[in-house]
Amino acid sequence: MDKKVSGLINSQVNKEFYSAYLYFEFANFYQECGLDGFYNWFYVQAQEEMDHALLMVKYLQNNGEKVVFEAIGKPETPAGDNLQPLKAALAHEKYITGEINEIYAAANTAKDFRTMQFLDWFVKEQGEEEKNASDLIRKMELFGGDVRSLYLLDAELKTRVYAAPSLIL
Ligand code: FEO
Repeated sequence: MDKKVSGLINSQVNKEFYSAYLYFEFANFYQECGLDGFYNWFYVQAQEEMDHALLMVKYLQNNGEKVVFEAIGKPETPAGDNLQPLKAALAHEKYITGEINEIYAAANTAKDFRTMQFLDWFVKEQGEEEKNASDLIRKMELFGGDVRSLYLLDAELKTRVYAAPSLIL
């Protein structure tokens, strides 16, 4: 593999594990608030992030590349009300989308069509994740100020279940 491309995927592994760590942090925050549905939503999200990291690990291994694990940064819950972690999650997903796009661009430059095909799944996934995060902010802005509505929204989020990724390597 092109060294720049494999290096970028290696560092993306760390960013995906950090994403999981960040969402477990947000899950803990909501658990402490007593919002079990929000806790569940972020717990499932964190599981998906670990899948993203491991898919990249597997892809590197399948292509004979060395996988290097770096230290994972300390996650922080933003100060403020219950809405702030949702906004931070959307901002984080936009950042991750930018990073995936950078790898895609490097693969394109290197004519690494296999990696571009591998990343297609992540490009689509980022679109879904950004939409989910912004939908959640919108719902919270609309209903979060009313305790009964917040209770129902929390109950809705409690129904989210983890599903293994559709991408198989
Ligand atoms: Fe793995 Fe939320 O991007």
